[in-house]
Amino acid sequence: MELFESMKAKIYGKNIKIVFPEGDDVRILGAAARLASDNLVTPVVLGNPDQINQIATDNKINTTQLEVVDYLHQPSDVIDTMVNAIVERRKGKTDEAKARQWLQDPNYFGTTMVYMGKVDGMVSGANHPTGDTVRPALQIIKTKPGVKLISGAFIMQRDAERYLFADCAINIDLDANGMAEVAIESANTAKLFDIDPKVAMLSFSTKGSAKGDMVTKVQEATKIAQEKAPELPLDGELQFDAAFVPSVGEKKAPGSKVAGHANVFVFPELQSGNIGYKIAQRLGGFEAIGPILQGLNQPVSDLSRGANEEDVYKVAIITATQAL
Ligand SMILES: CC(C)(COP(=O)(O)OP(=O)(O)OC[C@H]1O[C@@H](n2cnc3c(N)ncnc32)[C@H](O)[C@@H]1OP(=O)(O)O)[C@@H](O)C(=O)NCCC(=O)NCCS
Repeated sequence: MELFESMKAKIYGKNIKIVFPEGDDVRILGAAARLASDNLVTPVVLGNPDQINQIATDNKINTTQLEVVDYLHQPSDVIDTMVNAIVERRKGKTDEAKARQWLQDPNYFGTTMVYMGKVDGMVSGANHPTGDTVRPALQIIKTKPGVKLISGAFIMQRDAERYLFADCAINIDLDANGMAEVAIESANTAKLFDIDPKVAMLSFSTKGSAKGDMVTKVQEATKIAQEKAPELPLDGELQFDAAFVPSVGEKKAPGSKVAGHANVFVFPELQSGNIGYKIAQRLGGFEAIGPILQGLNQPVSDLSRGANEEDVYKVAIITATQAL
């Protein structure tokens, strides 16, 4: 089944609540209204109700199924409870005054709703840079047990081909442990998107063909990941062609179960990851779905500021699937 049809079938009618902090954006309102009328998500939008009504009227969007939360004018007991939740979660790193200030920001407000279980996930970033969208999640929702790092994966899709690329969005320069963790998390994310993972740890070297600190890091990361997840098909260090092209894989990494057949590609740092997915998208004609934040305790998704209504709709479907 097509990826989104399969995800829609999983979330249909499940009443999964997603908060959209950018309720004053027409793309968000349009997508939220569609998600509600398609019975895929129960949307909660943050913002000024009068402003939201005006945008909806101007753009003929039916908001009757949307719950609008005026986050700047909440009863004091509601805010107090949220402040307490933040202060307790931050264990001395954030005081009450700071927590109150945070809650004036829609991303912190929405993230706190997710953390408190008032909603199941959050979709934001249509009007905020990545850092502002994900920082509240790093600070309040934090990572899943056993996971230290949040990272950003893209599902790259073209016709029947589907791959996962990571980290393309969050960690600027991972050490070997970090890269190993991203590899294992990426394999888990891949399964969520019906990819049976074969993980390649990418480098400019294949099995010692080149040397240097950068190569050593990928070799170490491969070893760590193989020890932590011995059942997972994972190999490195591999150049992209050795990872992807069967004849090259056979020649450069004979005997590898992954070389030539990889479908999960783990990049050694953010420059190559971010550049790599954009090359596949712009030169290769792949649709880039993401960044999907992996490793978080509860799902939060970051939209591209260039996102259109359809992108918002799709990212919300992914977020709801993660919330299942
Ligand atoms: C994500 C990002 C904004 C975090 O940066 P930051 O806010 O400066 O992070 P800080 O180091 O101040 O850390 C803030 C908190 O988040 C945590 N954190 C930061 N990065 C984390 C990660 N990858 N995983 C888990 N937690 C993380 C820190 O431990 C810290 O927690 P604490 O407050 O409880 O101690 C930063 O890594 C970044 O800008 N990445 C690149 C994003 C980007 O431009 N991508 C390209 C476009 S998609």
